[in-house]
Amino acid sequence: MIRVEGREQPVASSPAVSILVLLQRAAVPIHTICGGRAQCGRCLILVLEGSERMNRPGPAELLRLKALAAGPGYRLACQSYTRGDLRIRIVNPSAA
Ligand code: FES
Repeated sequence: MIRVEGREQPVASSPAVSILVLLQRAAVPIHTICGGRAQCGRCLILVLEGSERMNRPGPAELLRLKALAAGPGYRLACQSYTRGDLRIRIVNPSAA
């Protein structure tokens, strides 16, 4: 399960689907411009618990995180997958 700070209902996790898509499917507001290609940085999340159950960031994500000056714990939801429970904060919750 993915628990999103400020929301009561958890989102079911799946190791085969990005966290961005899981959140979108559950109608959780999260911003994206590039549609999940690690280019816009709008899907930034802070992982509060469970980062050890996530994939490691790849080169494109690392590049974007560096450009955003994102510190430890930050990930791009569109590049992130989890095989277990997580607790996250959505940095840009606007879906606009
Ligand atoms: S949706 Fe654009 S970087 Fe993730």
